[in-house]
Amino acid sequence: MILVEPASSVAGDVAVPAVKGLCQRTVLLAAIADGTSEISGFSHAQDTDSAVSAARLLGARVEEPSDGTLRVEGRGLRGLVEPAEPVDCGNAGTVLRLLAGILAGQDGRRFVLTGDASLSARDHQRIATPLSRMGAEVTTTNGGAPVRVAGALLRPIDYALPMASAQVKSAILLAGLLAQDGPTTVREPAPTRDHTERLLRSLGVRVRSAGRTISVWPVDRLPPLRVAIAGDFSSAAPFLVAATLLPGSRLRVHDVNLNPTRTGFLDVLERMGARITVFDRRTAGGEPVGSIEVESAELVATEIAPEEVPNVVDEIPLFALAASMARGESTVRGAEELRRKESDRIETVTAALRAIGGRVESGPDWLRIRGVPTRLVGGRVRSEGDHRIAMLGGVAGILSREGVRVEDAQAAAVSFPGFFELLDAIARRVEPGRRAKETDGNSLP
Ligand code: S3P
Repeated sequence: MILVEPASSVAGDVAVPAVKGLCQRTVLLAAIADGTSEISGFSHAQDTDSAVSAARLLGARVEEPSDGTLRVEGRGLRGLVEPAEPVDCGNAGTVLRLLAGILAGQDGRRFVLTGDASLSARDHQRIATPLSRMGAEVTTTNGGAPVRVAGALLRPIDYALPMASAQVKSAILLAGLLAQDGPTTVREPAPTRDHTERLLRSLGVRVRSAGRTISVWPVDRLPPLRVAIAGDFSSAAPFLVAATLLPGSRLRVHDVNLNPTRTGFLDVLERMGARITVFDRRTAGGEPVGSIEVESAELVATEIAPEEVPNVVDEIPLFALAASMARGESTVRGAEELRRKESDRIETVTAALRAIGGRVESGPDWLRIRGVPTRLVGGRVRSEGDHRIAMLGGVAGILSREGVRVEDAQAAAVSFPGFFELLDAIARRVEPGRRAKETDGNSLP
């Protein structure tokens, strides 16, 4: 448990961990590339380390010659080895789903993918159905994990996704890369993050995107990757909210990936009245990158419509917090997918905000937040093992009147080890000497 005490403002220059999904995607692709890949800017977190241990277990050699630089010796497209033990994907949906797509094409070998209690309870039938249609034998355990994959010679499919999910899209595209023929086509109900498509294109793979239809053609081999990964917008987002809502704040988050399929929350905050400037814009490794400056501003309520949800999906907990301190009633509609994340985020967000004085109502696929432009009281937030809820609790703490105790705060390390320390470092305390501390009395380092 960590107690996060109120701050009067936040200030400074920060950097956040590298895009989690790119750390995972690059390691998994490097494992099936020919030759030695070099990934720089890699950030260790529970979820990204799950990708590294999976790649190693499947026979790829992964070394870290200097901090944050990984060197991965690939096994070639269909050269992954059948391990004696299950591949433990931990809490990482991206690792389990994308890996299943790659393993589906490992002809003649069998794999078992497991995860923690949260990952095991999530819906993996969503990947088993299309991958089975491509010819692999993919079975779930009552819809969840363990997921068993028997690799096969794959045939291309044309698949209309029943839900907007970049993970499912990516699993199919990666299987399509290994298929006997092409194209493999995925049709999305709403656009989702396109990191996989960009990465594949950067490796010379033929990928065609026309509106919401994406097609991939198989390759004979993948060249080694040379990629530098910038900061994760989802890890920058808590700081954008803190700086916006604490008067007198000014904060810069440097070197953030600004892929437009990820930055919907920037648009949402801007229409609520936030003062955000992007500077140092550039392109790196086929992805837009920039730095973000935020100054405090008063916010007004807004609506998030169903088609906008995929591009803000991981930021909706933070949106609900910001909306709690904005003037007016905010809503999120069409967000059923939130129930299928690391926790049921309709429930955990509602419970977390209510516990600290927020006024939130929710239903099957919606949230309604009655905002008041003043500090939340504070109280106790349970992360329920969900990293995004742990970080929500931390930001809520510095924005509160009385502080927030975050239970199971270490869940933040799934994507952002050191989150609470960084929050503490940028916080100017209401009373000198008050800071985030462990409730057993030990101050954080
Ligand atoms: C991710 C896609 C999203 C997101 C998750 C990471 C990815 O999940 O919520 O945190 O890396 O592709 P879905 O694609 O299941 O919505």
